[in-house]
Amino acid sequence: MRLADKVCVITGGGGGMGRVAALMFAQEGAKVVVAEVSQEAGDGTVQAVTDAGGQASAVETDVSKEDDARAMVQHAIDTYGRIDVLYNNAGIMPAADHSVVDTDVAIWDKVMAVNVRGVFLGCKFAIPRMVEQGSGSIINIASFVALLGCSVPQDAYTSSKGAILSLTRSLAVQFGPNGVRSNAICPGPVETPLLMDWLVKDEEAKRIRLARNPTGRFGKPEEIVNMALYLASDESRWTNGASLVVDGGISVNYF
Ligand SMILES: NC(=O)c1ccc[n+]([C@@H]2O[C@H](COP(=O)([O-])OP(=O)(O)OC[C@H]3O[C@@H](n4cnc5c(N)ncnc54)[C@H](O)[C@@H]3O)[C@@H](O)[C@H]2O)c1
Repeated sequence: MRLADKVCVITGGGGGMGRVAALMFAQEGAKVVVAEVSQEAGDGTVQAVTDAGGQASAVETDVSKEDDARAMVQHAIDTYGRIDVLYNNAGIMPAADHSVVDTDVAIWDKVMAVNVRGVFLGCKFAIPRMVEQGSGSIINIASFVALLGCSVPQDAYTSSKGAILSLTRSLAVQFGPNGVRSNAICPGPVETPLLMDWLVKDEEAKRIRLARNPTGRFGKPEEIVNMALYLASDESRWTNGASLVVDGGISVNYF
């Protein structure tokens, strides 16, 4: 199994791609810590993993809160004795995030708190443990919007994902010598509640996104998680500091 006995913390593991990741990681032998702001959603994932014969444990975590992030890492150590993978997946994309000229400061701050501070805090507490162990893999979920301008702007979200790519590169350089690899994934539009809840209300946004994608469809969660599986496993032992795009080709499409 590709992740035999690896302890993998997945933030936002209660829904969307995080839940699919928990299931797929556990199937590959990982011990999964589901760090999720909704206790109910986290417990639901643990149930799904155990029903499928895997190992998982939930810890109620708001990634934007320092005490929660510290407790999340401690939970992994207390429950499974180590932390091999930190999969920073939790992210938000509020409907009220538009252009800088019409986005409230409160929305900007909320997006930055979850999407950027959340990654910072997870790394702050997980990396010292990984350095002690001499190994670890940080997987940060950015987005294809970190690479492109967009005429349907979500400027807080876009900026937050750009920050994740810069931080990933800095972490890769700092902690690569200690055996801790850091990489980012830039998913294209994927069929999860985060995107679909919004697009079902905006047919035009849906049409534009589908028209731009050479594959003519949205991604499936497992198509992103397959990349994360590679990054979590030792197969990626010489992959460090990369921004890996999995988007069906939307980001290379000029017309
Ligand atoms: N769906 C897409 O099209 C798409 C595209 C590119 C990038 N992404 C990114 O992928 C990641 C996962 O997206 P998704 O589509 O699965 O989202 P989702 O909304 O379906 O699921 C996100 C999960 O994170 C949890 N969460 C939210 N805030 C949290 C917090 N403060 N602390 C802990 N957990 C929290 C939610 O409860 C939920 O279970 C996000 O970072 C998102 O920005 C998604």
